[in-house]
Amino acid sequence: MTVTPRSEPHDKAVAGRTAYVILHNTSEVVTPDAGGRRIERYARGAVVFRDGHVVEVGPGPELLRRHGEARPINAYGHLVTPGLVDCHTHMIFAGQRSVELQRKLAGESYAAIAAAGGGIRSTVTATDAERDDVLEKGLGSRLERWRANGCTTVEVKTGYGLTPRREIRLLELVRGAVQRVPARVQRTALLLHALPDEYRDRRDEYLDEMCEQILPEIHGRGLADAVDVFCDPIAFDVAECRRVLEKARELGLGLKLHAEQTARLGGAQLAAELSALSADHLEAADDADWQALARSGTVAVLLPIAALTLGQTLPRASRLRASGARVAIATDFNPGTAPAQSLLECAALAARLCGFDADETLLSITWNAAKALGLEERVGHLNPGAWGDAVVWECETLEELPYWLPAVRPDCVFMRGADLALPTVERRVWP
Ligand code: NIG
Ligand code: FE
Repeated sequence: MTVTPRSEPHDKAVAGRTAYVILHNTSEVVTPDAGGRRIERYARGAVVFRDGHVVEVGPGPELLRRHGEARPINAYGHLVTPGLVDCHTHMIFAGQRSVELQRKLAGESYAAIAAAGGGIRSTVTATDAERDDVLEKGLGSRLERWRANGCTTVEVKTGYGLTPRREIRLLELVRGAVQRVPARVQRTALLLHALPDEYRDRRDEYLDEMCEQILPEIHGRGLADAVDVFCDPIAFDVAECRRVLEKARELGLGLKLHAEQTARLGGAQLAAELSALSADHLEAADDADWQALARSGTVAVLLPIAALTLGQTLPRASRLRASGARVAIATDFNPGTAPAQSLLECAALAARLCGFDADETLLSITWNAAKALGLEERVGHLNPGAWGDAVVWECETLEELPYWLPAVRPDCVFMRGADLALPTVERRVWP
């Protein structure tokens, strides 16, 4: 399933400023190839943007000669990549759960903390108590931080509403935040995250409402691009997830699953069967799951900070290569398992933990991550026709991206071919 990214307000705002430019004098331009399988490297390369799109990428001197009319922008000998894509975040929430991390480190399980009133439900309470404008502005600040870290496309999930009405509220606030800042946001309604207390003995009624009322409303009002579910023994079973996802598919929404996180339950096979965009987590997935994802073209999303926080291991790169599955890496930014703000740092960690090389690492946060959102035609690479989203980094080579910690910073970030000023005030993005 491939979707065309929505035209956001900032796309129109920058359109007039981006007529025809060439980004040149780079150390190298690196980009996934058109099929998203390999990384192309252009030493001293250049990228030409016209009307917000990439028109050409290639050797700098030649492109400068052929695009003499384009306005030159000097990269001062630095590395250029596509804008990064963070394909899994739970960015709209209030409060924080640092005390829970201490409990986890002392040996208490995620499930036990949740059962004792912590976990997802405690963030739901904090989010419900927060004012709309604070949540909306806070999300805007987070999106700006992500752009300052090199992410031009970010997926934002709800999931801290739980009740149908509170989920709709969060989707409306995401829509509001997107009007405030230049960021490309894919919106996902995480509809089965935890059963809200209000529905404790009414599980079926909850599923009925989600399927018969909330999904049609989300679809009718254009509130989300995709639907996600938490398929796990501590959340919802395969049959429940299947029911909601089949309804979402009927309405033309993209499908995503939190699968095989705390135990192997069958979410990855369900994702493959339904041709979901992605199956995420997968710490407990086996080789048959990886092969099923490879066959269906469903992107496997690894979330290294969540795995580290819960004391789990990530699969080895050699095993994933053998399966042929496409792998993306994401922050999973959330207050419980992944208070992580830098996608590049998550990728640098995953490279070390799994054994990904620099090319695989870049693919996992560009083309493959774009495919996990259905956006790979336009986003996650710098091939002709792609949207002009690119980053000039404060380093010279591709190998430095997964190398430095803290991660390399962007020098400048382009969206639709326009060099957007990075936020000068680093606003606090946690509560
Ligand atoms: O992706 N696993 C489910 N959801 C989140 C964590 C939610 C939370 O603990 O607040 C995750 O890890
Ligand atoms: Fe998640």
